[in-house]
Amino acid sequence: MSVSYFMTGKAVLAFSGGLDTSVVVKYLQEKYDMDVVTVTVDVGQGDNQKQIATKAKKLGVKKHYNIDAKKEFVDNFIFPSIKANSLYQKKYCLATALSRPLIAKKVLDIAKREKVTALAHGCSGKGNDQIRFDITLRSGSNLPIIAPIRDLNLDRKTELKFAKKHGIEIDAIAKKFSIDQNLWGRAIEGGVLEDPFKEPPSNAFIWTKTKNLPANPSYLEIVFEKGIPVAVDRKRLNPISLIEYINKKAGASGVGIVDHIEDRVIGIKSREVYETPAAACLIEAHADLEKMVHTKHENKFKSYIDDEWSWLVYSGLWEDPLRADIDSFIDQAQKCVTGTVKLKMYKGSMRVVGRKSKYSLYSKKVSTYGKGSSFDQKLAKGFVELWGMQSTEANKLQRKR
Ligand code: ARG
Repeated sequence: MSVSYFMTGKAVLAFSGGLDTSVVVKYLQEKYDMDVVTVTVDVGQGDNQKQIATKAKKLGVKKHYNIDAKKEFVDNFIFPSIKANSLYQKKYCLATALSRPLIAKKVLDIAKREKVTALAHGCSGKGNDQIRFDITLRSGSNLPIIAPIRDLNLDRKTELKFAKKHGIEIDAIAKKFSIDQNLWGRAIEGGVLEDPFKEPPSNAFIWTKTKNLPANPSYLEIVFEKGIPVAVDRKRLNPISLIEYINKKAGASGVGIVDHIEDRVIGIKSREVYETPAAACLIEAHADLEKMVHTKHENKFKSYIDDEWSWLVYSGLWEDPLRADIDSFIDQAQKCVTGTVKLKMYKGSMRVVGRKSKYSLYSKKVSTYGKGSSFDQKLAKGFVELWGMQSTEANKLQRKR
């Protein structure tokens, strides 16, 4: 283990005000003998930013910065992920993964401004966040990166004890679970959830209703322009309000809980539970609309590209040039993704029940089983014969053998 005690100097720390980063402030001050500048980036986690500033002050930091990056988060991170129908392992909308490069970039800005000698974060050595932070920080700086929880191999119990000793207040819920949340989703890990066969207790959920769900279904009508959601339920909303609105409405119908086994980049399998009502609805709706306006060739190719995009972002490679390259393709592929999708939500389930677009490639005249179709069925016979030619030949040979 390489531990750099007594580094002295000044570190800038990405600070959420939670258990990990509060403990890290004290470690940096006491064990590394450093001054600490904290940065809290507001990506819609809903925390009281004033309280976090007070907390930082109480921990004795030299300076605390609060940066409102909600708009940037939606425009530059969430919207591209909707265009990429981004669901890691078909389930996880990347809420945490998307926020990390943005937070790290803000930390780099402050590092420059404050002329610090080190960069710090509160990630453990077991998760994905260390990868996302380290790689983005490295993209803009050669300063040493200090991650005390990883470097000192700290576990949660030790952290809680250390916090108590230093009079650091910890939320009741943080004693039960490890939580990370922002506008795009809420990730809940640890505690009783570590038994993958145990159903998550209802107190794990805050955004999604799990009991006494409404007796009637509710609907969402989402309008997309070039792949971006611009209106919902006939109201044009700014990007932040639109996501908040859907989180609330879908959450009230019990929509948005994800519970799956996830492969972390470093190889650990983890049981992850999420609440992501808006992400679930917007990605489902966007993907459905794409199917209507894209050719079958575009649909097939884009699904590989979407998977690759998700993997890059999940695995901390936001800054890799490939991500921007792929974004160019995806943006180009959004030119016709304009239209309206109707979702129905009922007691925790959600599905598309209608879609329309001026770029629709669906033609009732072609596809109808009714009278008067413009499609000449007789043409199909020859197509089918050519399409199956090699397979038919292979099977003929096998029959002979
Ligand atoms: N497994 C997810 C990810 O890697 C969520 C992580 C949540 N982080 C946390 N500190 N609770 O992006």
